[in-house]
Amino acid sequence: MEQIDRHRFFTMAEAYDRVCQRLVPGYDFLQDEVLRITGGNEKTDATIVDLGAGSGIFLEKALSRWPDAKAHWVDYSEDFLSVARQRLARFDGRVVYTQASFEDDWESQVEGQADLIFSMSAIHHLENADKQRLYQRCFDKLAPGGWLFNVDEMKTLRQDGYLANMRFWVGHVQETRGKIAEEHVPYYEKWRSHFDNWELRNVVNVDVPKTKGDDIHEHFTTQVNWLHEIGFANADVYIKYYLWCAVGGRKPHGKQK
Ligand SMILES: C[S@@+](CC[C@H](N)C(=O)[O-])C[C@H]1O[C@@H](n2cnc3c(N)ncnc32)[C@H](O)[C@@H]1O
Repeated sequence: MEQIDRHRFFTMAEAYDRVCQRLVPGYDFLQDEVLRITGGNEKTDATIVDLGAGSGIFLEKALSRWPDAKAHWVDYSEDFLSVARQRLARFDGRVVYTQASFEDDWESQVEGQADLIFSMSAIHHLENADKQRLYQRCFDKLAPGGWLFNVDEMKTLRQDGYLANMRFWVGHVQETRGKIAEEHVPYYEKWRSHFDNWELRNVVNVDVPKTKGDDIHEHFTTQVNWLHEIGFANADVYIKYYLWCAVGGRKPHGKQK
């Protein structure tokens, strides 16, 4: 069966960029907390990789906050690449753009080791074995003391809670329609047409098996355990806001797990 809305990341970048901070619950809160946890305002130089960086909102925040940081935008979408280039234009020379899939060798484009590998709302499109492989590769690419954070849509402890979290998002998107500035309404409508497909794939078809490219939500506990088993220290769910969980950990100094 043809996947529902499988080409969405190649047609929706501008709309996503304009309205995601309103339509993804807790969007800025989640990103800002990760910045605070991983470096506060003191860490001025860092090598940051954003996997599935989209239009570059997180990297824009990181580069503004840390004036000597270098950023690596990694994403397979040409559409998102052109929006990110505009958003990040003023950081010329501090951003390396790597148009690649997560399975490709994005690491070779990152000189040396990374201090922070971040991802938001992207890794859940991978099958579980590929998620684990990617987490391992992130571990290998990090400098000792470096952080991995995946802020993503994840299952919670029980199925009723998971469904409630997804329905919360549906309600949030509906409610926000009345609060969107007039000039953003066309972006809202475009985003909404993709979101209706998200609802169909995940809420209506909750029991339909998912394949690569779908939203393959995995429990946050399972993902924290993967991180721990790979060797991350302090692997945990640092923030949880409805469907979104910020799971992460730090590559230890020395050999201890
Ligand atoms: C929902 S958007 C999130 C963008 C950004 N992280 C944010 O939170 O604003 C998901 C992004 O992940 C990218 N993406 C999804 N699967 C990918 C894959 N397998 N390899 C590379 N990029 C991927 C898409 O192109 C898109 O830009």
